[in-house]
Amino acid sequence: MSLGTHPSHGSCSGESGGMRAVARCGLLAAPPYSQDETGLFRPYLSAAHKATLATVALWMQQAGMSVRQDAAGNIIGRYEGIRPNAPALLIGSHLDSVRNAGSYDGPLGVMLGLECVAYFAACEERFPFALEVIGFGDEEGSRFPVSMLTSRAVAGLLPHAPQDMVDTQGVSLSQALEQFGLPLRNFVQAARPPQDIVAYLEAHIEQGPVLEAEGKAVGVVTGIAAQYRFLVRITGFAGHAGTMPMSMRQDALAAAAEAILIIEQTAQQGAQDLVATVGSLSVSPGAPNVVPGDVSFTLDVRAGTEAVRNAAVEQIRMALAALARRRAVTVDIVQQQDLASAPCDEALTQHLGDAVRQVTQEPARQLVSGAGHDAMVMAALAPMCMLFVRCEKGISHNPAEAVNSTDVETALQVMVRFIENYAGSFGTKTEQMAG
Ligand code: GLV
Ligand code: MN
Ligand code: MN
Repeated sequence: MSLGTHPSHGSCSGESGGMRAVARCGLLAAPPYSQDETGLFRPYLSAAHKATLATVALWMQQAGMSVRQDAAGNIIGRYEGIRPNAPALLIGSHLDSVRNAGSYDGPLGVMLGLECVAYFAACEERFPFALEVIGFGDEEGSRFPVSMLTSRAVAGLLPHAPQDMVDTQGVSLSQALEQFGLPLRNFVQAARPPQDIVAYLEAHIEQGPVLEAEGKAVGVVTGIAAQYRFLVRITGFAGHAGTMPMSMRQDALAAAAEAILIIEQTAQQGAQDLVATVGSLSVSPGAPNVVPGDVSFTLDVRAGTEAVRNAAVEQIRMALAALARRRAVTVDIVQQQDLASAPCDEALTQHLGDAVRQVTQEPARQLVSGAGHDAMVMAALAPMCMLFVRCEKGISHNPAEAVNSTDVETALQVMVRFIENYAGSFGTKTEQMAG
């Protein structure tokens, strides 16, 4: 990388871009970019999301990009290639968060994309492809019952407007979109034609402990685990807590407690990459003196392959059916989401590994991602690859999430090197723009 400074923004040394990315994630973790005062929560289509888009749009412009918002509420910055209207290398991640989130899950990948462009704009370097940076609006699914709505829209996986689902406050997706100035019927217009996108790159914190344990700043992802989401409803019979003999109860919560332990044991006894989580539960009527009659809980099951995941779900279904008979309750399991496992593109992953080796002087550590990412959906649109950044103690989905700025600087250098190497593989030399 040559040295020099852009008059308005980034530095052509690439230095301190990583620090700025970290600082910006910190800024986005508090109001007005968070809906909650006491911890970060930025649900899709909230006022906090809107405020975030305005600020990210400004940063994208400062980095040298033209900016637009698509029909699904994604923000997209574009830095033209050598020739105008060239297909784009898309770099991105998500801007929404879980409740009481950490600062880096999602925004770090967007900020790093932005820093790549700031660097190339400062160096006046363009490629045979355009660079686009995308901040997806919904990856976590923390507002509506499904996740990755917005990357699915971009990847063209929603041939029709999505089902008009309702959030926990009773606000429908169509109302929330309308308030954002986005009609539901236009949602599918966020789809990109495959010929517009040459590849997708996502940088993300690892959200696990492997890189830290092995003393590596970054790692290269080989694939993303398959996911299922279900809503499980157990119906028993509500009764008086003082008068209903224990032998006559159809206690939905006690049945749910047993079901949750069965789910946990199934995953503990299964393949090493199998995980199953009950993350949210609601009890009705929910009073100290009433035997619970109705319980619903979410079930998230993941594994590296569909075969392992599906076999575990079959085992859980059979065990819960037996439990229902034994406890005289009914158990309904409704599938809400099925995300296929996504292998990363081999050639891109090789380029990314080469870039890691060039920057760190060490071979790249390869990892499978148990966490879901927009990349797994974008794989349907374009070849994709992912870079992981070490995070402290592997903690994520927790306000204690932390990264080291030096690691983020390393990630930025790897991404810059990857883009340059990838451009080289296009067979066309990159051009220095005239002053
Ligand atoms: C997203 O963070 C997911 O893996 O569910
Ligand atoms: Mn997350
Ligand atoms: Mn994430």
